[in-house]
Amino acid sequence: MIYWFSGTGNSRWAAEQLAQRLGDRLASIADCIASGDYRHSLAPGESIGWVFPTYSWGPPPVVLDFIAQWHIDGYEKNSTYCYMATTCGDDVGLAVDIFAKALGYIDLVAAFSIQMPNNYILLPGFDTDPAQVELDKKARAVARIEQVATAIAGHTRTVDVVTGRYKWLKSRIIRPFFVRHMMSDKHFTADADLCNGCGTCAAVCPMRNITIGDDHRPQWHGNCAVCLGCIHRCPRRAIQYGSITRHKGRYHFK
Ligand SMILES: Cc1cc2nc3c(=O)[nH]c(=O)nc-3n(C[C@H](O)[C@H](O)[C@H](O)COP(=O)(O)O)c2cc1C
Repeated sequence: MIYWFSGTGNSRWAAEQLAQRLGDRLASIADCIASGDYRHSLAPGESIGWVFPTYSWGPPPVVLDFIAQWHIDGYEKNSTYCYMATTCGDDVGLAVDIFAKALGYIDLVAAFSIQMPNNYILLPGFDTDPAQVELDKKARAVARIEQVATAIAGHTRTVDVVTGRYKWLKSRIIRPFFVRHMMSDKHFTADADLCNGCGTCAAVCPMRNITIGDDHRPQWHGNCAVCLGCIHRCPRRAIQYGSITRHKGRYHFK
């Protein structure tokens, strides 16, 4: 069983690639949350995989919230293989430690990072990758998935992630501040001249947090994972976050 969460498609792609190579089944965390489906069962010998993007050098809070309510039947402490694979633009800091702790009595046996195109654009100094970097990262991700799938198939016990420099500062000091103050939808707007009310943003929002109002413009309702699916997939570049994203790139996995 591979649980996945994704905003702009990188982690969804990674999860689907792993499922295909491992002959495993997929469970969308966003769909589970939407339907209140928190209790699952493992078949004998089945492993548990978690695939998600790195958010501020840790797992997305929405994934941690899901785990807090999740229950799995059929878990066997000394034999069930449980792993995480996190996609990131650069590095993951102490995401593995944070995730292992959130799993509680379930042992995280292996962890992998997979570098993919960056989608974070909401702060000064952060932008999408140049076109060639994006292509290079995607090409390397194909080889990396193969490597990760082989390790998982062999039930390898490993922590194979790029933590980056200053990991403690990033994950223990910057991350809590980021989660508290930078993870809200209150600065998203749709440009009146560009938005035609097509509803793509509402359709792609994994949190079901966007509706199209009577004025044919999106409305955000405060339950945002800051996955940036809406802003990156708007076909008319009509969505902005304050004014900071006006001249930033847009990206989603194709
Ligand atoms: C809120 C947010 C925070 C992010 N923080 C990090 C980070 O700490 N380190 C990193 O390398 N990439 C970071 N990124 C980039 C994403 O992890 C990366 O682009 C990821 O592959 C996106 O996955 P997705 O397409 O499945 O949503 C962040 C992206 C978002 C939206």
